[in-house]
Amino acid sequence: MIGIVAVSNDGYISKDNSIPWDLPVDKKQWKHTVRNNPVIMGRKTFEQVPARLTSDHIYVLTRTETYPEKDYATACKSKEEVMRHLSDTTQDVYILGGGKIYELFYNEMETVIVTEVDMSVDGDARFPLSYTEDFTPHVRIKFSNRPFEIVYSNRD
Ligand SMILES: NC(=O)c1ccc[n+]([C@@H]2O[C@H](COP(=O)([O-])OP(=O)(O)OC[C@H]3O[C@@H](n4cnc5c(N)ncnc54)[C@H](OP(=O)(O)O)[C@@H]3O)[C@@H](O)[C@H]2O)c1
Repeated sequence: MIGIVAVSNDGYISKDNSIPWDLPVDKKQWKHTVRNNPVIMGRKTFEQVPARLTSDHIYVLTRTETYPEKDYATACKSKEEVMRHLSDTTQDVYILGGGKIYELFYNEMETVIVTEVDMSVDGDARFPLSYTEDFTPHVRIKFSNRPFEIVYSNRD
């Protein structure tokens, strides 16, 4: 599985339940990356992303008994349920957050694609900070005059 996330200098991914930056180039990049692949996200994140994305299918973690499903999104009550749905897939599966879901699937991530945003945020959700020790960067993409870099890292 592949984690895909944007983090501030101090490791935050959100503030007041929303993303505290607007980076259209980064948004375009991650949407392109997950194109036609299955993605996993928490209910709070699902309710914030544009309806369909371009992913193959969205698996939404929620404990709500009757969460309304869509033809492009399946509600799952546990990590195990998500894993059962994906047990036969040969596609790359992307973990799209938020904080609770990054934590839940952290040990399953073989690769992380991290947008490092040059900003400090007094935030409320994080990506596990241990990623800098557990993963080694192998590609770093810099954008001229943009306040972020995208770093691809594999688990050691
Ligand atoms: N910077 C980034 O790259 C990035 C990426 C994604 C999201 N975000 C931000 O992260 C914030 C949301 O993160 P969050 O941690 O508050 O919420 P979240 O992870 O998106 O969703 C949390 C919800 O997922 C469900 N859930 C969590 N663990 C579960 C489990 N073990 N089994 C079943 N369901 C489970 C629960 O839904 P129910 O309440 O329905 O039971 C829970 O309320 C937002 O501000 C979003 O904008 C940032």
